[in-house]
Amino acid sequence: MANSSLLLTQKIIDTILASPHQKITFSDYMNLCLYSYPYGYYNSEEISIGFEGDFFTSPTLGEDFGELLAKQLAQFWEILDKPSPFYLVEMGAGEGNLSLTIIKHLQQNYAHIYPHLQYIIVEASPTLRKKQTELLQKHLSSLAKVKWCSLEEIEDNSIRGVFFSNELVDAFPVNIVEKRNNQLKEVYVTYNPQQGFVEVVDDLSTDKIREYLATLNVDLTGEEYPDNYRTEVNLKAIDWLETISRKIRQGYLLTIDYGYTAEKYYHPQRFRGTLKCYYRHRHHDNPYVNIGCQDITCHVNFSAIQIYGEKWGLQTLAYTSQALFLMDLGLGERLAKLSEREIGVGEAIQRRYQLHQLINPEGLGGFRVLLQAKNLTDFQKSQPLQGFQHLRPWDYKPRILE
Ligand SMILES: C[S@@+](CC[C@H](N)C(=O)[O-])C[C@H]1O[C@@H](n2cnc3c(N)ncnc32)[C@H](O)[C@@H]1O
Repeated sequence: MANSSLLLTQKIIDTILASPHQKITFSDYMNLCLYSYPYGYYNSEEISIGFEGDFFTSPTLGEDFGELLAKQLAQFWEILDKPSPFYLVEMGAGEGNLSLTIIKHLQQNYAHIYPHLQYIIVEASPTLRKKQTELLQKHLSSLAKVKWCSLEEIEDNSIRGVFFSNELVDAFPVNIVEKRNNQLKEVYVTYNPQQGFVEVVDDLSTDKIREYLATLNVDLTGEEYPDNYRTEVNLKAIDWLETISRKIRQGYLLTIDYGYTAEKYYHPQRFRGTLKCYYRHRHHDNPYVNIGCQDITCHVNFSAIQIYGEKWGLQTLAYTSQALFLMDLGLGERLAKLSEREIGVGEAIQRRYQLHQLINPEGLGGFRVLLQAKNLTDFQKSQPLQGFQHLRPWDYKPRILE
């Protein structure tokens, strides 16, 4: 085991032993594995997203994803009546590829918007913040348009613009629950010197879990759920949403990630939940190995994001798949142009492969794209959106779609 992994394991053991009843929630365990400084997965010096890392994301497959997304962001600026400053707040920016592409693309192709741009990066990992800064410094003539801060540091009711993220919410630590003897229980992590980390099941750590499931109209103690049914509850996503809703004066929240509606998420047949670990492009479901060296993630419950968003004034405007979203924004034309271009065969094949990956329904193309908005006028809401042409927002019913 790498030294950093040993040190992180010891830190988790110490935390467990210092806790009441020597147990911590799975959410606390996952938080330590991913975000503990300096050895948590997202803080380690070895963290790498893309071909050389443990998993791919859309921005690591070239510039197409960011450029097409920039086209949608540019349209939001028009609909919002050309605000200045126009805030783009990217949350969970990884290695900074998406930020770089969007900023460069707006500078080169939207010269009328660029002067108004203020790009904010909200990034939990100091290691990744450093990588982002280095990347942007290397490729941009100045960092004047970019600022890093926490969500809390953004003034309430101040943002006219767009909050957006790609594969952020799936990285939030989750609580795990189980049905045991017709009761709802929670999974905790303990430590035993002979067996290592051991799960135990006990009463819920917080009433918020019951409230969350009730809000989604899900009763896991119902008879359709088998005993030992296990799933996750993403309370961090709800806190995150509430914070964003306070920050927006007028604008959008765009969330791109893998996930399901509540109906699919909590389907009785999905009896071991959605938790997955990624280690060198392979996935498995054991979060107690490769500590600090593997990603741990869960699908996003998009119904929860919609329903809680509505409570805080974030109205759902559209919900689609990444494949449709990118096709609507012009990915098909990019594919067609490849055969006209005078580029080498090798390069053309590589680009075609990357574009296909972005829309592959079995992979990134099957990701969901959720658009919510706050304080838009009826006229603004009724504007047809370039990335959502296959939907008519006004008759869209997100909770039953899919
Ligand atoms: C799966 S990676 C995705 C990175 C990037 N968006 C991409 O698509 O390549 C998740 C990112 O979210 C960041 N993150 C996780 N929780 C966060 C939080 N609460 N606030 C800000 N960033 C967070 C991680 O450090 C990491 O940069």
